[in-house]
Amino acid sequence: MSDSSGRLTRRLRRLRSGSGVRNLVRETKLSSHDFIQPLFIVENEADAGPIESMPGVERHTLSTLGGAVHRIVESGVGAVLLFGIPKTKDPFGKIAAAKNGIVPRAIRACLDAESDLVVISDVCLCSFTDHGHCGIVEGEQIDNDASIERLSEIAVAHAEAGAGWVAPSAMMDGMVGAIRSGLDDARLEQTGILSYAVKYASSFYGPFREAADCAPQFSDRRTYQMDPANAAQAVAEAELDLQEGADMLMVKPGMPYLDVIAKVKAKFPEVPLAAYQVSGEYAMIQAASQNGWIDRKAAILESLIGIKRAGADMIITYWATQAAQWLGDS
Ligand code: PBG
Repeated sequence: MSDSSGRLTRRLRRLRSGSGVRNLVRETKLSSHDFIQPLFIVENEADAGPIESMPGVERHTLSTLGGAVHRIVESGVGAVLLFGIPKTKDPFGKIAAAKNGIVPRAIRACLDAESDLVVISDVCLCSFTDHGHCGIVEGEQIDNDASIERLSEIAVAHAEAGAGWVAPSAMMDGMVGAIRSGLDDARLEQTGILSYAVKYASSFYGPFREAADCAPQFSDRRTYQMDPANAAQAVAEAELDLQEGADMLMVKPGMPYLDVIAKVKAKFPEVPLAAYQVSGEYAMIQAASQNGWIDRKAAILESLIGIKRAGADMIITYWATQAAQWLGDS
């Protein structure tokens, strides 16, 4: 813009002229309190250790979990999302609902280490079924209504072990409602639900499937996870989960779905919204930086600020602890 004499009247570069003024006008800020650290816990100790496709991430045993949790809290991160990998699997994922299964034991180990930690447990069947699907299978179909009953039992087992939050990720219709009534019937009305409401059938989950040993053994997840081409449907998914009793919502993955994050936030501004920066997003930046093709720290922080700027209130990221250490704001 210029005035009648042709002089520029608005020079936005003034707002970028030094780091002091840039700090003052920054619209989006990251904090260690924004992050949730995912953790993998194996029942079989021989399966513990590094994950090849996620350099820097490990699978823990119950005995290494407490130390990991201390380091997370030390960094300023106050929340974890737990994924358990059991010793044995069956077609119905029965073990997933066992009161003394790997996830309930991991929940107790986390709380023994840090009693104020926000413990969120992933509620799904895929790591517990021999076919690797997120529900109970009937022939080659996923039986929605049988699956949501099992998901509700799993959520109750996790909540009884002390999880403050359960995070159903199976993308079954009615799963949030079934879990809410299961929890309420068990007098666990204080347990919250962070629903993976908007979860896409994404190729960016590849490395996670190695970490959680949950690749589907036949077909794929496209009959239950969302089509990456759809955004209006994301609002419908979010709306249904809220009606069924979700306290917080999630969009997953993060970076390829920033428009979806923005849309869901605009539609439900009062509902806390999480975004999951998934394993493939992690692996891409790790791999490029290991090759010297990208500045790792700058790329990680930029990817996180982008997700927050789009509208996420919190971010589930494998770099949670690392980013919090860099921010140093705890
Ligand atoms: C299981 C689940 C998946 C992820 C989180 N929970 C895998 C999938 O749906 O196939 C992916 C997380 C990641 O890639 O980091 N339902």
